[in-house]
Amino acid sequence: MQIDPETLKARDMYQWMVSTVIPRPIAWVSTVDVNGIGNLAPFSFFNGVCAQPPTLMFCPANDRFGRQKDTLVNIEATGEFVLHLVPFHLAEKMNATAASLPRGVSEFEHCGVESVPATKVRPRRIPGVPVAFECRLDRVVRISEGPIGGNVVFGRIVQFHIDDAVLGPDGRPDPLKLDLVARAGGDQYMRLGELFSLVRPA
Ligand SMILES: Cc1cc2nc3c(=O)[nH]c(=O)nc-3n(C[C@H](O)[C@H](O)[C@H](O)COP(=O)(O)O)c2cc1C
Repeated sequence: MQIDPETLKARDMYQWMVSTVIPRPIAWVSTVDVNGIGNLAPFSFFNGVCAQPPTLMFCPANDRFGRQKDTLVNIEATGEFVLHLVPFHLAEKMNATAASLPRGVSEFEHCGVESVPATKVRPRRIPGVPVAFECRLDRVVRISEGPIGGNVVFGRIVQFHIDDAVLGPDGRPDPLKLDLVARAGGDQYMRLGELFSLVRPA
């Protein structure tokens, strides 16, 4: 089968992309609006970018009416966010925070997600996740305007939280202890399966 993206509606292309680019890690992103009201939402077009300077990216698309998501509006207004990785035991709560709530209503309260102050930024941090990155906005790259238009948020990591309980004997994160969830296509999610090693060529 061959697909020419020019022949597809954006919505259909989106479905093909999210069901082939898998597994995708999930960024659970906490922000505040200009009034200090918290916001929390998941984004799976997400990854690390580089370590010098330590930088992450995720992609809050415009909604189907062309409106920017609250997360992007808040980050452009305040320049800060906390990005959490999602352990299996919080998967349902993470999914609940994807609900479209009116602007100014906090998913923290609405979905009963605990939070504590972050160390260096104003958005709050979720305790009980294995990994959280406090970030300051590096830049937003607009891929396209209008409905389902793309935006890429690049954030500089200014504080890194990692739960000691997920470290292995070598002092590095143990993937099985992290027990992170990843997104597959549609409503499907994945947990870590079989691990194997490959020695990199010199
Ligand atoms: C697992 C998961 C991954 C998601 N990934 C994305 C994504 O990469 N980009 C995006 O724009 N929306 C994504 N969404 C949808 C947003 O979470 C949803 O639109 C949310 O309401 C945005 O919240 P906000 O308006 O408070 O920023 C995802 C939802 C789920 C459940």
